Amino acid sequence: MKLTLKIWRQADRAAKGGMRTYEVDDISPDMSFLEMLDVLNEGLLASGEEPVAFDSDCREGICGTCGLMVNGQAHGPKAAVTTCQLHMRSFKDGDTITIEPWRAEAFPVIKDLCVDRSSLDRLIQAGGYITVNTGSAPDAHATPVPKDQADRAFDAAVCIGCGACVAACPNASASLFLGAKITHLGELPQGQAERDNRVLRMVAQHDAEGFGGCTNIGECTAACPKEIPLDMISQLNRDLRHAVRPGAVLKVKSE
Ligand code: SF4
Ligand code: FES
Repeated sequence: MKLTLKIWRQADRAAKGGMRTYEVDDISPDMSFLEMLDVLNEGLLASGEEPVAFDSDCREGICGTCGLMVNGQAHGPKAAVTTCQLHMRSFKDGDTITIEPWRAEAFPVIKDLCVDRSSLDRLIQAGGYITVNTGSAPDAHATPVPKDQADRAFDAAVCIGCGACVAACPNASASLFLGAKITHLGELPQGQAERDNRVLRMVAQHDAEGFGGCTNIGECTAACPKEIPLDMISQLNRDLRHAVRPGAVLKVKSE
């Protein structure tokens, strides 16, 4: 395949970025999208040019580091896959492909296609955990969990923190990510003790990071490579309403 790539280049956080056009040839339909970018970078290096910076780690849909806007869609045109799982057979010979970084105030560009997503880490630090004495591993059956709750907790736990939901949302809201984390821990007995404080702290941090509010558009769930459903945002809102009930003892700040 021969392709024309229009790629966002930006030297650093402060620099003014812009689109650059590159041609790549001899691309196999069986290559992953990131392998296609590797081919581009080998060519750039051979000609003495700066390679295009992009993030990746596992390259198998697990770590969540590889997000790119491909032709305006977070993780590209194929549903339920990350950019590293997207293959060039999803494109045609002669195509022009536009490749941009995630766009959100809370995800500033570090260089080219790499963005700083540490704002999501700070949401987790604000409340996405349970406080337990770890000790030795408990017996697997020591804490019974009903099957339907265990299934829903697992459906939420598959969120890989890639940030595609934020990038796809016109409000740059991280509500789907937050909903997944709140649902994951809220469905399990171990998550109950800190449930009210968790949602208050995480929502406060979400707003402080500059993420927008949810207006029920649903682009987040359409872009999510792990198919986190929209009703996990409803769970987030239910937990928040419960936490601010009359008489509740609120602890928005950590001790
Ligand atoms: S909810 Fe989906 S799109 Fe958002 S961070 Fe988690 S896996 Fe990525
Ligand atoms: S590189 Fe890990 S999910 Fe894509």
